[in-house]
Amino acid sequence: MIVRKFTPNDLKRVFEIESMSFNQSYGIEMVQQLYEMGVGFLVAEEDGYVIGYVIFWIKYEDQGHIISIAVDKNYRRLGAGTQLLVKAISILSLLNIRAIYLEVNENNTGAVEFYKTFNFKIDRVVPGYYENGDGAIIMYIPLNGGKVSP
Ligand SMILES: CC(C)(COP(=O)(O)OP(=O)(O)OC[C@H]1O[C@@H](n2cnc3c(N)ncnc32)[C@H](O)[C@@H]1OP(=O)(O)O)[C@@H](O)C(=O)NCCC(=O)NCCS
Repeated sequence: MIVRKFTPNDLKRVFEIESMSFNQSYGIEMVQQLYEMGVGFLVAEEDGYVIGYVIFWIKYEDQGHIISIAVDKNYRRLGAGTQLLVKAISILSLLNIRAIYLEVNENNTGAVEFYKTFNFKIDRVVPGYYENGDGAIIMYIPLNGGKVSP
């Protein structure tokens, strides 16, 4: 398995993974727009086949943000999510980031467990964050290289 930069040729496949992974999809145009905005965008590839992706950016000057991460249902629990997140965190770590934040649906216990393996902590819960009324758990991981100590 390798992790590499997203290219526009990956767009359809990333959208496929995104739509199988979330009830509320960003839509293919939004994924393309994110790429054009210059966000961090990596894919995991197994034998030339894209099996997962991560999208991240710097939200404020010193705050990283995981926008979206997903792995094809048929390839989960094989370490692809971990490899993608490790790479995203290592890129953000080079950029004077104080902490990395993300939102996860409060009912998505699998993803919360996944983030806990990285030592992400729960910051707070935002009720009604998603369109269907579900709340979001805001999680974060402090980074040492940033300007402000957490
Ligand atoms: C969350 C997600 C990206 C994890 O990807 P993955 O490739 O399956 O994760 P990994 O194989 O690297 O998992 C690493 C560890 O995280 C934990 N973990 C991962 N998925 C888990 C689950 N569903 N339930 C409990 N623990 C889980 C386990 O400790 C796992 O190690 P193990 O398999 O040796 O037990 C994947 O489940 C996914 O695409 N989910 C749908 C989209 C989503 O929810 N994205 C996050 C939204 S914020």
